[in-house]
Amino acid sequence: MGRWFFFSMVLGVVCWVCEVGSVGGIGANWGTQTSNPLPPSTVVQMLRDNGFQKVKLFDAEDGTLSALKNSGIEVMVGIPNDMLASLASDMKSAENWVSKNVSGYVSDGVNIRYIAVGNEPFLTTYNGSFLQTTLPALQNIQGALIKAGLSSQVKVTVPLNADVYESPDGKPSSGDFRDDIRQLMLNIVKFLSDNGGPFTVNIYPFISLYDDPNFPVDYAFFQGTSSPVVDGNATYNNMFDANHDTLIAALQKNGFGNLPVIIGEIGWPTDGDINANLQYAQRFNQGFMDHISTGQGTPLRPGPIDAYLFSLIDEDKKSIQPGNFERHWGIFTYDGIPKYQLNLRTTNNGALVRAKNVKYLNKQWCVLKPSVSLDDPNLAPSVSYACANGDCTSLGYKTSCSDLDVRGNISYAFNSYYQINDQQDAACNFQGLATITNKDPSTTTCRFGIMIDNESAASLSLAQFRHYDPVFRFGFYVFFPLLLAWL
Ligand SMILES: *[C@@H]1O[C@H](CO)[C@@H](O)[C@H](O)[C@H]1NC(C)=O
Ligand SMILES: *[C@@H]1O[C@H](CO)[C@@H](O)[C@H](O)[C@H]1NC(C)=O
Ligand SMILES: *[C@@H]1O[C@H](CO)[C@@H](O)[C@H](O)[C@H]1NC(C)=O
Ligand SMILES: *[C@@H]1O[C@H](CO)[C@@H](O)[C@H](O)[C@H]1NC(C)=O
Ligand SMILES: *[C@@H]1O[C@H](CO)[C@@H](O)[C@H](O)[C@H]1NC(C)=O
Repeated sequence: MGRWFFFSMVLGVVCWVCEVGSVGGIGANWGTQTSNPLPPSTVVQMLRDNGFQKVKLFDAEDGTLSALKNSGIEVMVGIPNDMLASLASDMKSAENWVSKNVSGYVSDGVNIRYIAVGNEPFLTTYNGSFLQTTLPALQNIQGALIKAGLSSQVKVTVPLNADVYESPDGKPSSGDFRDDIRQLMLNIVKFLSDNGGPFTVNIYPFISLYDDPNFPVDYAFFQGTSSPVVDGNATYNNMFDANHDTLIAALQKNGFGNLPVIIGEIGWPTDGDINANLQYAQRFNQGFMDHISTGQGTPLRPGPIDAYLFSLIDEDKKSIQPGNFERHWGIFTYDGIPKYQLNLRTTNNGALVRAKNVKYLNKQWCVLKPSVSLDDPNLAPSVSYACANGDCTSLGYKTSCSDLDVRGNISYAFNSYYQINDQQDAACNFQGLATITNKDPSTTTCRFGIMIDNESAASLSLAQFRHYDPVFRFGFYVFFPLLLAWL
């Protein structure tokens, strides 16, 4: 009896170790294109509370990197595409970048493991702008890492969009690099392979569904599909595996079958599109976590999958050129509240842990004055202005705020602008159409947010306003016509 007990204890511990080991891969993307960011130290605490062992950043902000000191969290630091040209043309600028943005932080205890050179630089929307500069920038950064004595612990990579490879007949085993960039891709892959760098790819079943209304919805998820792809002995029941193995086939075909692969971004947005909602995001992300927790990998690459979820928190300043969903990729809201149940298998109770001690601005909202007539000619331009400078991506067909009436819509726009501008009085005027209220206008699904109080935000936004943005233009549009009228 005692021996059996001991045996099962040992078994229990071994299985605990193997379970933790098999999910050792989960990371998070931490983007900072937000109007009122959570303090970096709050985000780092959130990462730790939720058991993320790795984080991927899009640039090298000092506040972010400093907060990661001695956290033990592995860091991938990004280099924005607009820096590629200078890094490519000048070894000295690559050395400066490494010296300023890597060396010091590594000696200060930031666990930097990867440099991501560029971000999806070969997206077709960039019209080839970064085709000439990505590889030379990669080479110069690698050279600078060697010179700094960091090349054994810090590896280079390039996060690429999944359309750098394709399959002519749709079968993963027929995968190869896209014709127009084939030679460039082979040169990059060889360089990564020679220098111990992984291939990083972003895979988005959501985008496939967004782009193609005939895409089989269940194939985007992980619970089986009525339209599997049969490829020799392998049957693919989800797009992720098939897409991943199209890349593996492309690597194998060109002699790099053992190159490590990192999933740089994977996730599902929750708002701004008919297919971007809490149910689908939960289903996708939980399905993905369950899938990788088996440690089985894919038909062409059995074994653990190394991945970073996209994304940790919503970013209300992201470009919506790709679509309104862009600002809603977070598994947490802008203020660190879990959006849905997600078991990352990293915490004891299997639930997401919200951000702690978040400081908010006052409990007040900016809304349309009840007395204003909907025929008021100033309404339309005011709403356009509020939406252009605030965030109206939760308004529209099948979004979280689609239940609002016209007045609710207008109030939502006004409030967004007001909150993003730190609840400054001048940001709740709109030619007298708006007023401040203490009554929360939120509905069951539509949240009228209150922004985060970031102590330095006031002075920071003042500096911003002076250089370009809202309040100056706001003042211009509102007061200039008044001035004219008065004259
Ligand atoms: C406020 O936000 C800025 C960046 O937007 C950040 O650098 C700073 O650390 C934040 N301040 C606090 C107190 O969190
Ligand atoms: C370090 O990174 C920041 C943020 O990406 C960038 O603005 C800055 O130019 C970099 N420093 C150097 C010396 O390249
Ligand atoms: C790419 O080309 C299109 C059409 O010529 C243009 O509208 C767009 O602004 C270009 N984008 C970039 C990033 O150069
Ligand atoms: C399919 O499986 C058989 C038996 O396991 C094996 O001999 C064959 O090579 C496999 N074919 C492919 C295309 O993997
Ligand atoms: C609210 O605004 C959205 C987005 O502009 C629009 O699609 C919707 O029709 C509006 N609803 C009403 C009731 O006006």
